[in-house]
Amino acid sequence: MNTIPDINIVPFISVDNMMKLVLKVGIDTFLRELAGVIEEDFLRWETFDKTPRIASHSEEGVIELMPTSDGKLYGFKYVNGHPKNTRQGRQTVTAFGVLSDVGNGYPMLLSEMTILTALRTAATSAVAAKYLARTDAKSMAIIGNGAQSEFQARAFKAILGVDQLRLYDIDPAASLKCQRNLEGQGFSILICKSAEEAVEGADIITTVTADKQYATILTDNMVGPGTHINAVGGDCPGKTELHRDILLRSDIFVEYPMQTRIEGEVQQLPSDHPVTELWQVMSGLADGRKTDRQITLFDSVGFAIEDFSALRYVRSKLAATGFYERLDLLADPDEPRDLYGMLLRCEASMLSTSPQKIVS
Ligand SMILES: NC(=O)c1ccc[n+]([C@@H]2O[C@H](COP(=O)([O-])OP(=O)(O)OC[C@H]3O[C@@H](n4cnc5c(N)ncnc54)[C@H](O)[C@@H]3O)[C@@H](O)[C@H]2O)c1
Repeated sequence: MNTIPDINIVPFISVDNMMKLVLKVGIDTFLRELAGVIEEDFLRWETFDKTPRIASHSEEGVIELMPTSDGKLYGFKYVNGHPKNTRQGRQTVTAFGVLSDVGNGYPMLLSEMTILTALRTAATSAVAAKYLARTDAKSMAIIGNGAQSEFQARAFKAILGVDQLRLYDIDPAASLKCQRNLEGQGFSILICKSAEEAVEGADIITTVTADKQYATILTDNMVGPGTHINAVGGDCPGKTELHRDILLRSDIFVEYPMQTRIEGEVQQLPSDHPVTELWQVMSGLADGRKTDRQITLFDSVGFAIEDFSALRYVRSKLAATGFYERLDLLADPDEPRDLYGMLLRCEASMLSTSPQKIVS
C-alpha cells in the first residue's frame, strides 16, 4: 500500500498512470463516483471563488486557465482548444491541472487532464441530463464522433442507462472509430448519414463537434418536443453549434452564466435572456424539466469547479492505487530562508563528483 508522500514531494499523475487509475477503478465506477463528487461540489456552489476562465485567443485556437478555490483547496486547469490540430495528428483539446493547499500554498497534485477532462465533461453532461432529460430517455444522438464522444456515451449509459446510440460525423471514419471503440460495451449503435437522420427519434441530442466558427449542427426543425440537448462543442466566442431559433424554444441551463454568456450557445442571444444555473436545479432552488414536451438545453462550456472536483476525486484515489510518481517540484532548504545556500551546496556536491561539468 502506498501513502501520499511528504508535503515537499508533489504527486504527479502522468497520462500512463491516469489510464491505469481509471481502468483499475473501472470506467463506469470512475464516471459514477466522479459525477457524485461534481454534484457534491455543485451543491456547495456558493462556497467557491468563481471567475470566467482566462482565455488567450489566436487564429488557430485558444489557451485557457481555469482557477477556483473552496477556501481550503485551490485548483486550476490549463487547457487548449485547437480544432485544426487533428489534421496534424494532434489532439484538439489537451490539459493539465494543479490542486493546492490554500493554507500554505503548496501544490498537492499535478495531473494530466486530457483524459480527465473528457471524463469530467462526460460526467457533468450526464449529471445535467439526470435533472433535465425525460426520465424514460434511452436513446442519444451523438453528433461529432471525435475524442470526447465515447466518454459521453459511457457516462450516459453508466449514470442514466442510455444505451441506444445514433452517431453522425462529417468524417465517416470518426463514426466507425467510435462504433469500434464502444463494441461489446452494451450499446446498440446506428451510424447515420446525416445529422437529420441521427436526431430522428433520439431522446437526447449531444453535439460535440469541433470547428472554430458559428456552425449550425442543428436547425430548429430537427428538434422535437421533449428532447434534451447536451451542447458540448460550442465553448468559445465565435464557436457555436445550434441555430439561434432552437435557443428561443428551449429552457436553457448553464454552469456559470458570466462565462457561458461569453462562450456558450447563448452568446447568440441578448445578455439578459433568461438562463437557469444548474447548481440551483440540483439544490431544488430552481425547476429543471417540468413537462415531457419541454425542450431542455444544457449549454455546456466546462467550468473550473468541475475540474476542481475531478482533481479532488483523483487525489482521493492515489493512496489506495499508487498510480502516481513523486515529483521533486518544491525547493526544500533545511533553513527555509537559505535557498541560495542550498544552491551553493548543490554546486559543491556537483564539483566533488564531476568538476569538469560545471560551467560558470
Ligand atoms: N463543454 C465542455 O466542457 C467541453 C470539454 C471538452 C471539449 N469540448 C469541446 O468539444 C468539442 C469536441 O472535442 P473533441 O476533443 O472531441 O474534438 P475532436 O476534434 O477530437 O472531434 C470533433 C469531431 O467533430 C467532427 N465535426 C466537425 N464538424 C462537424 C459537423 N459540422 N458535423 C458533424 N461532425 C463534425 C469532426 O470530424 C471530429 O470528428 C470541441 O469543440 C471542444 O472544444 C467542450
